[in-house]
Formats: sequence, C-alpha cells, structure tokens
Amino acid sequence: MKKKSGFLWGGAVSAAQCEGNYLADGRLPSNFDYLPLDERRLKAVYKNQESSLLETKGSEVYPGRFGNDFFNRYQSDIKLLSELGVNSFRFSISWSRIFPTGEEQEPNEAGLAFYDRLLTELENYQIEPIVTLSHFELPVHLVKKYNGWGNRKVVDLFVHYAETVMTTFKDRITHWIPFNEMNMVLHIPYIGGGILFEEGRDNLSTQYQAGHHQLLANALTIKAGRKIDAKMQFGAMLAAGKTYAYTCDPKDVFAALQQERENLLFSDVQVFGEYPRFFSTYCKQHNLSLEIIEADQEILQENTVDFVSFSYYSSACTAAEETGIDRVATNGYNTLRNPYLPKSKSVWQDDPLGLRITLNQLHDRYRKPLFIVENGIGTQDEFSEGKVHDDYRIHYLKEHIKNLVLAVEEDGIDVIGYLMWGIIDLPSVSEGKISKRYGVIYVDQDDVNNGSHERYKKDSFYFYQQVIATDGKYAFE
Ligand code: BG6
Repeated sequence: MKKKSGFLWGGAVSAAQCEGNYLADGRLPSNFDYLPLDERRLKAVYKNQESSLLETKGSEVYPGRFGNDFFNRYQSDIKLLSELGVNSFRFSISWSRIFPTGEEQEPNEAGLAFYDRLLTELENYQIEPIVTLSHFELPVHLVKKYNGWGNRKVVDLFVHYAETVMTTFKDRITHWIPFNEMNMVLHIPYIGGGILFEEGRDNLSTQYQAGHHQLLANALTIKAGRKIDAKMQFGAMLAAGKTYAYTCDPKDVFAALQQERENLLFSDVQVFGEYPRFFSTYCKQHNLSLEIIEADQEILQENTVDFVSFSYYSSACTAAEETGIDRVATNGYNTLRNPYLPKSKSVWQDDPLGLRITLNQLHDRYRKPLFIVENGIGTQDEFSEGKVHDDYRIHYLKEHIKNLVLAVEEDGIDVIGYLMWGIIDLPSVSEGKISKRYGVIYVDQDDVNNGSHERYKKDSFYFYQQVIATDGKYAFE
C-alpha cells in the first residue's frame, strides 16, 4: 500500500449494539433499546413501524439492552484488538449515556467517565479512536416527545451533546463521524431517525425532513468542532454500494442512475454544501413538503466535510421494470438478485469487485479522502472447543481487501483506512441476533443473552492479523 505508515487498519462497533448495561451510571433507554427480537422488530426495520413499538411486553427480549457486554469488558477487548495489531478502532458514543433524556443542560459525568476510560485504554495501546456521535441511537424520550429527528428541536439538542463531547475529548480524537449511514433514515426510519409513523402522517416528507435536520446538525457540529480544535476532521458516512443496472437497456441504466442519486443525496450535501439540482423535481414528483430555509442553506454551504466514510457490504441492482425478477435482502432494504454474483454464506450477496467500483465511484464524484469504516460478512459460525473455523469469512475479507489494495495502488485512490465491521461479535441491527456474527473475535453468547460472554479468536483473527502486519499484502497470498 502506498500510505504504508499512515494507513488505518482496524475494526468497528456501535454503542447500541455492544455496550449493553443500558441503565448503568444514570443512562436512560434509547430508541434502539426498544427494538425487540420478535417479529415486531422486522416491522420496525422495514418501515411500517407503529407507536406500539414503545409499549414493552414483559416477555420480550431487547438485544440493545445487553449488547455483548462491552461496557464491562472493554479493557480485555482492547487488549485482544491490540494483539490483532489494529492501529484504529471505531466506536460510537451513546447520547443517552451523556444526556439521558437528551434535554438536560448538564451532562451525566458518569457517562463521560466511561468514554474517558475507554479512550485511555486505547491510548495505552496506541490505537486511534474513530468516533461516531450518532449510530442508530437517540434518547427514547426524544422519540416520544418530538418524534425523533422529524422535529427541528432535536438539532439544537444534538449540537449541545456534540459540543459537550468534543470539548471534553478535544485533543484525543481526530476523526469524527457525526452520523452513521445518514441515508438509512430513508430505509429504516425508526432506527436511523427515531421516527414512528402513525395513520395519516406524510411518511416520506417526515423522513426527508429528518434527513435535513441531521444534515443541519452535522454542519453545526462541524462548525462547533472547528472552533474547539482546528485539527478535528469530520466525515460524511453513508451506506454505500454501487447500484448496477440489471441490463444495458438505457431504461435500466437510467433507473440505476436515479436510485444512485437518491442514495447519495445526503453525502452530496455534506460534500458540496448544497442539495443537487434533481432534488427539487424529486420533491415535486413525490409531493414532499419540506422546511428548508435560507439560513439552513448557508449553514450547509459553510460547513462541509473533510472526508467521506462509508460502509460496504454488497452492491445493489435495479431495473426500470422490476416485476418478476428475483429479489434479495441487502443492508436496510432489498434489491434485485444479481445473477452474476455467486451464492455466498451470507444472505446478502457478496461482491468484492463492487468495493473497488464503489471506491472509484465515490472518488470520481467527491475527490475527498475515503474511509471504509464498515465491511464484513454476517453469518452463522460453528463454535466448538474454543475454535471457529470460518474459512468463508477469511475468503470474504481476502477478496475485499485485495480490491481495496488494488483501488489504492492501481487506481490511485486516497483511502484513509479499512475498518472491519463488528470485529467482536455483536447483535445485528436487522435481525437483532448475535448469531448473525461478523467478528474475528467470537463471543460466547446466544441470541437471548445466555452464555459466558467469554471471547475467543476465530481462524479469521489470525488471517486479519497477517493482513495488518503486511499492510494488505497477505491478502494476495
Ligand atoms: C450497518 C450498520 O448498516 O450494517 C451496523 O452501521 C450494522 O450497525 C451493519 O450492524 C450490519 O447490518 P446487520 O443488520 O447485519 O447488523
């Protein structure tokens, strides 16, 4: 790799999925803590959520409340990560640990103290923290009172939270990602924006309005952060993955272009500081009524991002007329099955070359440093006598990392780093189950939180260790 010394190799997790201990030290529940494991979760994941989601039933299991116990195990987890050789680790801060209802003026010191300890531990091993401020999580009080990001009031509350965190940890964190996968508010609005739908509400307008509020909060966070410490770097973060046309029929190609533009809408605004031209026609066509005032436009224009980070799991595929074509699930929505991609062990289609294509696409469009902050395969593992022989995960990582290296070395793309998603097994967002495992570190825990919670190294741990030690070369062996 060209950037040998500076390339960031690491892993990523989110507070909502790994910390657990959801009421510890004065924390209060978040939207994520109300996602049950049963079929109501699927409704929440795929749009038709109702307010009844907030009515808890005694018998239900809520994976966000237990995570993988990272809150208590972060020290030994970081020791393991250091053995793996990572030089960076992405985690998110739980808003509800710092401001339990979201409306307090003064932060919860015990909540800040947890992240102070976590940062100290990372510093002890010289692992650089990459920090997300909002990863599918906001205090549930804000969902109940304001319908989450649907309400402009939440912008100020978030900026107060962001400023507090940035002021507290200012010279200890360089790379900040204010929002995880902002485009997810269009696919999984309860998770991405704390939005609940009710009969008669204009759902699509609420989703785009929530996206606009997040864009504003993102820009105001950047503005505040740059005053606190000019060295801070801020990133857009999107759920990426090239959208292919199902055929070379120009109608399919145009459909793919349109879908892609919608997917890149928020990162376009974060990079260019303004909404793309097509968006006003889009609003008319979809009867969107949005409040985007002139002052907002100035804020967006003046506070754009320094880098573009993204998650990549697979590509997507679309056609002008999709009826009768097989569909397949992907991250947050479903798409046409791509007949050219071989079957993999994941329910999502693997497309390693798609990563190189996506890197090229984002580079051509944005000309900003790119950062892969999530990539991995979520699937069942067999655990026996302390071991997991996950050759399928090794294969997935190998092929994706090869394409990353080729994008850097042959296509000349500026990539800050590569972070594997769910490096320590954690409950999945879409399924809520830890048995959809992503890690190179196995957690002895089942979907309803039985188990010792002990950590074990999978075969893929040793593979990734070699990849890191050789700066990617081992992927070609
Ligand atoms: C990304 C999220 O969308 O995909 C992660 O940022 C999530 O939080 C990951 O875990 C994988 O999705 P899932 O549904 O398998 O957990």
